[in-house]
Order: sequence, then C-alpha cells, then structure tokens
Amino acid sequence: MCGIVGYIGTRNTTPIVIEGLKRLEYRGYDSAGLAIIDNNNQLSIYKQKGKIIELERALPEPEKCFSNIGIGHTRWATHGEPTVVNAHPHTSYCKKIALVHNGIIENYKPLKEKLISSGHIFVSETDSEVLAQLIGYFYEKTEDLVRAVKQALKLVQGTYGIAVICQDNPRQIVAARKGSPLILGIGDDEFFITSDVSAIIIHTKRVIYLHDDEVVDINPAGFIITNLENEVVEAKISKIDWDISAIEKGSYKHFMLKEIFEQPESIENAFRGRLNHKLSTIRLGGLNLSSQELRNINRIVIIACGTSWHSGLVGKYVIESLARIPVEVEYASEFRYRNPIVPTGTIVFVISQSGETADTLAALREAQARGAKVLGITNVVGSTIARETDGGVYIHAGSEIGVASTKAFTSQVTVLIQLGILLGRMNHLSPVYGKKFLQELKQIPAKVNEILKSNDYIKSIAETMVNSTNAIYLGRGINFPVALEGALKLKEISYIHAEGYPAAEMKHGPIALIDENMPVIAIALKDEIHEKIISNLQEVKARKGRIIVIASKGDEVIKDFSSEVIYIPETIDVLQPLLSVIPLQLLAYHIADLRGLDVDQPRNLAKSVTVE
Ligand code: G6P
Repeated sequence: MCGIVGYIGTRNTTPIVIEGLKRLEYRGYDSAGLAIIDNNNQLSIYKQKGKIIELERALPEPEKCFSNIGIGHTRWATHGEPTVVNAHPHTSYCKKIALVHNGIIENYKPLKEKLISSGHIFVSETDSEVLAQLIGYFYEKTEDLVRAVKQALKLVQGTYGIAVICQDNPRQIVAARKGSPLILGIGDDEFFITSDVSAIIIHTKRVIYLHDDEVVDINPAGFIITNLENEVVEAKISKIDWDISAIEKGSYKHFMLKEIFEQPESIENAFRGRLNHKLSTIRLGGLNLSSQELRNINRIVIIACGTSWHSGLVGKYVIESLARIPVEVEYASEFRYRNPIVPTGTIVFVISQSGETADTLAALREAQARGAKVLGITNVVGSTIARETDGGVYIHAGSEIGVASTKAFTSQVTVLIQLGILLGRMNHLSPVYGKKFLQELKQIPAKVNEILKSNDYIKSIAETMVNSTNAIYLGRGINFPVALEGALKLKEISYIHAEGYPAAEMKHGPIALIDENMPVIAIALKDEIHEKIISNLQEVKARKGRIIVIASKGDEVIKDFSSEVIYIPETIDVLQPLLSVIPLQLLAYHIADLRGLDVDQPRNLAKSVTVE
C-alpha cells in the first residue's frame, strides 16, 4: 500500500527519499513522487507512473534537485487510476503547499464541492488532493502551517498518515496520523518521517511511533508533538532492534525465497523461551491473563484476513483438538459489518502480520466495543493492532518483505499451536501429552530444513506446471487450511487460478473440472484419515487428473496414485501444517519465477492493506 518518506536536515534530501521509497517498494504501489524545496525556496514536484526507477530517471541533474527538505510517496491507487496526475505529492491551490497522504478521506466529495464553490480548481481524481487544497485554504488565512493542518484535519472523516511542506518555510515538515501508521525517525540534526521503519533504518534506529490524532511539527533542530486540541504530547522514543540485513535479499534471487528458507529459524524464534519443560506447558506472558482467566475461556473467535485467516483456521483445528474449546474463525471484513455475537467468556484473537490491516483493526475495535477482551498475534512491534489489543503474542518472524506471506504464516501457526498446548494443559491435556508436543515442536526447525533440501526437485515439478491455467489443492482435517494457503500462494504470485478444497468435498463440484490438464496437488500425510484421502485421489486418477502429492516419508504405496511425490518428515497431527505448507510455498515460488513474474511485488497486491 501507499508509503511515505520525508527528510529534513543538512544532507541532500533527494537520494535519501528515493532510497527510502525503494525500501517501501515491497508494500505494493503503482506510481511514485517527490516534493522538495530548493535553495531558492522553490517548491518542485516530480511524479511518475510505474516503478521508482522511472521517477529517478525523470529527475533533473543532481544539482538541480539539491534540497535539505523533501517528502516522497508511493501510491497504491484507490480513488482514481494510477496516473501521473493522481500520483502524490498533491499541491494546494496556491501551489505553495505539497502533501503526501496514506489512507482514505471518506468525506472528500462534500469537502471538494465546497472548495470548488469557493473557486478552487482540482487537477486529480484523488481524495488526497482535497486534503492538500483544504490545508492550502486555511493556510492562506493565517500563514501558519500547523494550524492550517489541524483545521483541515478536524473537518476530515477517514484515515490518514500525512506529511506536508510549504515553500514559505523550507525548515518545516508537518506530519499527522489517524488510522494509518506514521513514524518519526530521530537522527543527528536531522529527522525522518515515514510510514514504515524499513525506509529509514539505514539512517537511524531511534523512532517515535505517532498515535492517532497527533501532529508533529518538525524542524532541523527539533520537533514538537501536539494533539488536535493543541495539547503537547509526551513522546516515547523506541529503539529498533533489527538491522538492515533483515531487509536485504543477500544471495537470494527474491525476498520470498529468502523468507521461505528462513523458516527453520523463524519458527524457532516463535517458540524460543516459551517452552516450559518443567510443567510441560507454554509460557505466553503477553496474554495478560491469569490462570483462572485462561481456564474461564469457553469460546474463542479468531479474526484475520488473507494468509493470517488461513493460520487462524489451522488454529481452530489445533485449539479444538488440544483444549476442547470451540473456535470460530471470521474474516475481519465480515465480522466488522455484521452483528456478531460475543457472549461472556469469549476471547477474541486478531491475527495480523503487519498489525495494520484496516479490516482487522476495525474488527478489533468492534469486538472491544462489544465488551470482548481482544488479544493480538502480530509480527510488527509497535504496530497499531499490537498497541490497541489488550494483550497478545508477537510471532518474532523478522521483517517479511515478499508480498506473499510465508514465514509469517508458519510463525503464526507456531504461536497458535503453543496457545493450544497452553489452553489444553489448563484443561484436559495430560503432562505426558504436553511433553510430547513440546518435544515434537523442538524438532520442527530441523524437519523444515530437511524439506528445504527438496527445493530442486520441487522446481522440476514447477517446470511441468508453468503453462497450467488452473490447479486444485486438496487437503483434509488440519491440512485443509494448508490446501487453501497453497492455492492462495499460487494465485497471488503466478496468476494461475487455483482453488483449495477439503478433499472429500471435491466430488460435490470441482471434480467436473478434472481432466489430464488439471494438476491436483494433494496433502496426503500418514494420519487418521490417510485412507480417506487415498480414496479421493483414486477419484482424481480415474478421471486422468495429474496428481502431485505431499506425502509422509516412507509412504511407498502413495506412488501408485501420483505422478509426483514430495516426501516430508512425519510429525504429530497438529504440527503437520508447519511442514506440509513448505513444499507448497516453494512450488508457487518456482512456478511464478519460471513464468518470469515479479515474485516479490505481484500485480495489484499490497503487503499491508490499510484501506477497507
Ligand atoms: C494482504 C497481503 C496478504 C496478507 C493479508 C493480511 O492481502 O497481501 O499476504 O495475508 O493482507 O495481512 P496481515 O498483515 O493482516 O496479516
């Protein structure tokens, strides 16, 4: 989604902002722009459709765009097509003020009409230009940028992260947030403003996460944060605890491949320090729940979107199986707009890698408004969801740059498995079983490593699927959500239509699609329902479908039903998704790469969807 990078200090802004915008490319965007105020106090705006490299090419020679202040933006189109005119920064009618904006101004139409009736002319179709013009309207009356920004924001409904500059004062950036992340980076005699710390981590690790309704007035010597009522807000400086290598590809061709290969470590990080071997249980202190409160949970609702929703579905199987507590898994976008039932004793978990997904955030607030305790499972420390929940668990997966989520999924599942063990031990699960789960969880990183050794073989299977137009993924029980996730991975990055189905459900419809051109990818591990899924595969085979099976190591019989078999090590049932998803991630990756597609930044998708 949209990204913001701003700089004020003593260095040349342009390369800093351009480099920062490149770090945000992973979030998904379709145009980019930059505004600077040069040494002659002239505001200059540069915008381009497409990649940041196009913007870079369009810039004049370096000496002509030297500046100590600037704001840049990557835009993911919502209101209006991805064109140069619609790209940010947008300017006020007086052309003195430039603004970059993340989020959506919901009441932009009436505001626009009012401005038009007072003589303003609009050039773009965007809601963001309305905000730029509104700030300009107030600025013309007082020539006080902070005041003008606040006056405008008081009239605005919707969400925003904004940065604003004005050519009358080349030593000031004003930035504000509501519902869209914004971070102030503190350097030596210089400051940064960004929507994502990845953009500024090479310059500083000292940051302030702005809260909703806060406005920061930045100059090269300092800053002041106030709220819309002009009260000064005390800021807390946080230290980023990871470094630049976490957001670089290293020797990998793509971030997605790097992240798939990081999973032995990221899974381990999700349980590191949390296994309580003495009591054969799990320690999750961040939940902020006493033992009694944990025992009192009689229903769990899990809310999420996309891949996080799939991990939630795995969580349902795990928690119901280990703790015997009923679990419902909801799409955040659905939960927020219906009339959900949240009785006493219900605990809500919101799962979000980014911690910023707009629908998940709105569902969180709705659940809290209905009196539920809401806990978060997130990756990004200090994210809005992490801050607004009543407690939760960080997955500690490290930065995930590839738009198609991989290591965040397995880390979320690792946390949900631990939650299942913890709640199980609070209820029916014996110490013997608790111990068994703990021991088996510890073995998972090594087993993932073993699967990663099949990378070349999986690539050879991918070669046979490059020209496929459709694929079906089948799984049963806890591997059904994994089938959904495998199909989603393929869709997202290869643009091949794929469906995930519970294997037995295939005969109620999708079986009509099966012929020799339809690859069927089935997860058929040695478990209680192994025989059942074999029957389902026979149904596919009888219709000449091409079957690629993820099977348990040592299962020779499965070869009779399949064209290809990818073997994975055995583990206990509830841990299987941590292994069975790995070949599916690799398969989708290689197919997309062989098709020559932009694996890390697939078309139309965004890493973190901060709009409804
Ligand atoms: C976007 C991403 C998906 C992700 C989903 C939920 O659609 O492209 O990969 O699963 O958002 O994101 P979250 O950050 O809330 O887990």
